[in-house]
Amino acid sequence: MGFSKLAFSLAIVSVICLSPNHVAEAQNEYLGPHNAARAAVRVPRMSWNQTLVNFARRYASQRVRDCRPIPPSGPYGWNIYIGTRGRDTPSAAVASWVREKQFYRCPSNTCAAGRTCSHYTQVVWSTSMQLGCARVRCNNGNYFIMCSYYRRGNVRGQRPYRCIREEAMEAVEGAMEELVEVDVEEAVEQTVEMAEEEVVDVEENVIAQVV
Ligand SMILES: *[C@@H]1O[C@H](CO)[C@@H](O)[C@H](O)[C@H]1NC(C)=O
Repeated sequence: MGFSKLAFSLAIVSVICLSPNHVAEAQNEYLGPHNAARAAVRVPRMSWNQTLVNFARRYASQRVRDCRPIPPSGPYGWNIYIGTRGRDTPSAAVASWVREKQFYRCPSNTCAAGRTCSHYTQVVWSTSMQLGCARVRCNNGNYFIMCSYYRRGNVRGQRPYRCIREEAMEAVEGAMEELVEVDVEEAVEQTVEMAEEEVVDVEENVIAQVV
C-alpha cells in the first residue's frame, strides 16, 4: 500500500512538473519557426491558442485511420503535413512549409510553375495571428501533423503581406544599376577627354621642338 501510494504521488508530481515544460516545448517547436519566418518578412508574431490546439487535435484524431492530408472544414486556416519515419517531428513539418519560400514571389504574389507555396503563405499570412497545432500517430505508423490558424490565410485575391521591403529593394537595385551605368559612361568620357588633351600636349611639344 505504501509503495502504490508513493508511486501514485510520484505520478502526480511528474504530471505537474513535467507536463507544462513538455507542452511549452512542443508549442515552441511550432511557434518558434512560424515567428522566425514571419520576422524575416516583417509580419507580426503569432500567439499560441488553446482553442485552435483543441480544434487541430480533434480533427487530427479523425484522420488516424487513413492518415490522408484532407483539409478540415470550419472557420480556420490549416496546414497539414504527413510525417514519415525520421521526418515526423513538428520542426520537420514547419520546416517543410517554410522551404516553399524559395518558390514564392511577393511583388507578383505568384508561385513558381509546378510548385506549391500555400503552406508558406499561410505561415506568413499577416492577419493569421493565432496558432494551434496537433500531432497524432496514425494506424500506419506515420504522423498526421496539423496547424490551425485564425484568422484563416490564403484568402483568394489577397496577399499574405505587403511586400514593401521587396518592392523597395527592387526599386533600389534598379536605381543602382542606372547609377552604375551612368558612372561608367562618365568615367569613359573623362578618360577619353584626358587622353585627347595629352595627345594635344604631345603634338604641341613636337611642333615646338621642330620649330
Ligand atoms: C483563440 O482563438 C479563438 C478562435 O478563433 C478566439 O475566439 C480566441 O479569442 C483566441 N484566444 C485568445 C486568448 O486570443
